Amino acid sequence: MTLILGIETSCDETAAAIVEDGIRIRANIVASQIATHSQYGGVFPEVASRMHVEAISPVVAQTLAEAKVAPDQVDAVAVTVGPGLAGSLLVGVNFGKGLALGWGKPLVGVNHIEGHIHSLWLTEDADKITFPVLCLVVSGGHSELLLMRDHGQYEMLGNTLDDAAGEAFDKVGRLLGLPYPGGPAIEAAARQGNAEAYNFTRPMLDGSFNFSFSGLKTAVMRAVQVPSESRKRARGAESLEPGKLRPDVNVSDAAASFQAAAVDMLVDKTVKAALAANVTEILMAGGVSANQLLRKELQRRTELPVRYPPLNLCTDNAAMIASAGYFRWLSGQRDGLRLDVEPMLALVR
Ligand code: KG4
Ligand code: ZN
Repeated sequence: MTLILGIETSCDETAAAIVEDGIRIRANIVASQIATHSQYGGVFPEVASRMHVEAISPVVAQTLAEAKVAPDQVDAVAVTVGPGLAGSLLVGVNFGKGLALGWGKPLVGVNHIEGHIHSLWLTEDADKITFPVLCLVVSGGHSELLLMRDHGQYEMLGNTLDDAAGEAFDKVGRLLGLPYPGGPAIEAAARQGNAEAYNFTRPMLDGSFNFSFSGLKTAVMRAVQVPSESRKRARGAESLEPGKLRPDVNVSDAAASFQAAAVDMLVDKTVKAALAANVTEILMAGGVSANQLLRKELQRRTELPVRYPPLNLCTDNAAMIASAGYFRWLSGQRDGLRLDVEPMLALVR
């Protein structure tokens, strides 16, 4: 039995987990900073790193206690090195280094995206996943279509050319006056709305598996906001700030129509990429994979099995980092104390 301690601090969640053999969660603790950042309408990097510093030690201690695991039973410490916010990543990486040095255990640096993908290995029938699979990783920072031939073997099929899917949900949520993060708020508002009320543009960039969400975001803004002359003059364009909504705007209808368009774009490319790459199944991961419409639509439009993580593993957590770290550890990866953060780290170079 191999026990990995995972540490994740790439954005606004301070998280630690103990995972057994890469697939069984023994403890998984997430201290979320969302309540603090929602006051600013987004993640405030300087505040995030300070809050990680305060939370990391108790979160790791609580994880070990809940898992009933002593430091000498831990086989390796896996920590997110990137992509993410530099100041936030530094807290986790330095804490991980300290533990690895103090406990005399190997350190394994993990890519956050590879972590999201491995949230699928923490589900019940993960042993039935058969390669090659197509991974749709959709979060606040990423919208990637990756062909995964095995653990550690990825090929990039598509990426976003501008905003990430979650970022688009967050920005549209903000301009509709909904709370941060926008994804869950838009999904909730959309339940009361008519998805056909607005026919928003769906830029499809034919012939590629890339995404582009900025056109959709602008279309929503044009449809719902009162254009501010002074703002237009100042910036040469309409603003994405929560401006004044047109009096006739129904927020639920706008949220439902935006969500339908965003899901349509994601599903269209995913189904096409799955066919082109001839995969056996489709895995969905990242915060946006919590979206029920996305799950339903993708399953409706493909005959391939579609897997997604349970809701608590869609958003950032350290169990997924421990799982990805386990497979890296199995393949022989050992990182020394010179391990450094890589805010722009890519899974496929
Ligand atoms: O994976 P995650 O926790 O952090 C990153 O690595 O970015 O993803 C957070 C993103 C946010 O943009 C949030 O709005 C989005 O995931 N999100 C959702 C939903 N829940 C979270 N987007 C759409 N529908 C949801 N239900
Ligand atoms: Zn994430």
